[in-house]
Amino acid sequence: MLLASRPLATCSRLAGLPIARTVGVRCGSLWANVKQGLGTGANAARTPLFPPRLGPPDAILGVTEAFKADTNPNKMNLGVGAYRDDQGRPYVLTSVRKAERSIQDLALDKEYIPITGVPEYNKLASELAYGKDSAPLKNGQIVTAQSLSGTGALRIGGEFLARWYEGAGGKKIYLPAPSWGNHTPIFKDAGLDVAHYTYFDKKTNGLDFGGMIKDLKNIPSGSVVLLHACAHNPTGVDPTPEQWKEISTVMKQKEHLPFFDMAYQGFASGSTVRDAFALRFFVDEGHKVMLAQSFAKNMGMYGERVGLFSLITDSAEETKRVDSQVKILIRPMYSSPPLSGPRIVKKVLSDADLKAEWLKEVKSMADRIIAMRAGLRGHLENTFGSTHSWEHITSQIGMFCYSGLKPEQVDKMRKDASVYLTRDGRISIAGITSKNVEYLAKAIHDVTK
Ligand SMILES: Cc1ncc(COP(=O)(O)O)c(C=O)c1O
Repeated sequence: MLLASRPLATCSRLAGLPIARTVGVRCGSLWANVKQGLGTGANAARTPLFPPRLGPPDAILGVTEAFKADTNPNKMNLGVGAYRDDQGRPYVLTSVRKAERSIQDLALDKEYIPITGVPEYNKLASELAYGKDSAPLKNGQIVTAQSLSGTGALRIGGEFLARWYEGAGGKKIYLPAPSWGNHTPIFKDAGLDVAHYTYFDKKTNGLDFGGMIKDLKNIPSGSVVLLHACAHNPTGVDPTPEQWKEISTVMKQKEHLPFFDMAYQGFASGSTVRDAFALRFFVDEGHKVMLAQSFAKNMGMYGERVGLFSLITDSAEETKRVDSQVKILIRPMYSSPPLSGPRIVKKVLSDADLKAEWLKEVKSMADRIIAMRAGLRGHLENTFGSTHSWEHITSQIGMFCYSGLKPEQVDKMRKDASVYLTRDGRISIAGITSKNVEYLAKAIHDVTK
């Protein structure tokens, strides 16, 4: 009976009604207990996203909304995490358009695909990540599952760890501090505890390598450690190849499990091979890694949600067992993944001409970002004569620059110049164009001189 759990005396809507008429009438709203959320991902209030010492990140959605309402014709949105061309427009890759057209012409069916995706797509995507000659790939030591982009791959990994990981470190994952805002909610919702290891050094705007190694040595052996494979978000700071080697050594000594998040392969350096260095090195060193891949950025497939979860096993026999459990956890979540996006990616990766064209386009996106970094630093130092060190603008890599701007300076730039970025000082370089790079440099100089 609907009213059984609520005393009539507390139900103002029913005051004065005879009891007989109250049967079947709900007292108050069904969802009155649901609290207003403060956003998702980087914005979610229920999870501490950064260790307190780094402070909470600002709301990216809030930045975009304030930007939209601003009428200044020179306004700049440096909050978005998506690539823009030099006119500031969203960019659909020509290779992707061509693949899409050729698929349409085939008038293919739209039947369900297997729970873990189309095997040819999974194979091509994993070859792109691990390399065609990767030994575990050749030996059947890999479990793959097509995923709802990088986020979905991370979630599958989190769910699998929560169910099956029995390493000494327990059901806990260590993220770099800071990390992408959605990592904490993804892994917490999957049932893992989340902790952080030292990563960014605010003093140098670079990597606190000593602190990172120390933390990796001090956390319990057998811990799960999330590593950004390249183009770390939000800082743009990556370890050097030499540092990756040392990280690998420590993680091997401590028997940690590396979970790579590779959301930007090719986007960092312009080369999909160079950006996969850390992942491939770890695999060559015998680490049984987990990996989340995304084609959102490097193929501009943001809304298509194309990704891959993969995991390296000890043997083909183990692959079978793990694969069965990955299927068991995906089936009740979304039954089977979508069809169209992976068809496009499969076409691009399997057609030699389209693949060559795509690789050129990836490089041109990376080059534009690198050019904007150089332009911004050049204007700050040469056009405006700033005496601060802006070396980190060009040494950091990928879509984001952790500028070192303080929250008050970010606020002032927003107020005085209509330049919008998150209060942690993160600049999305993709939002800069050759037309407004000088304007941005002036806005930064004005709040830092
Ligand atoms: C570090 C990192 N991981 C994963 C993702 C996942 O993105 P998507 O789910 O769109 O592939 C992002 C997106 O911004 C990211 O920056």
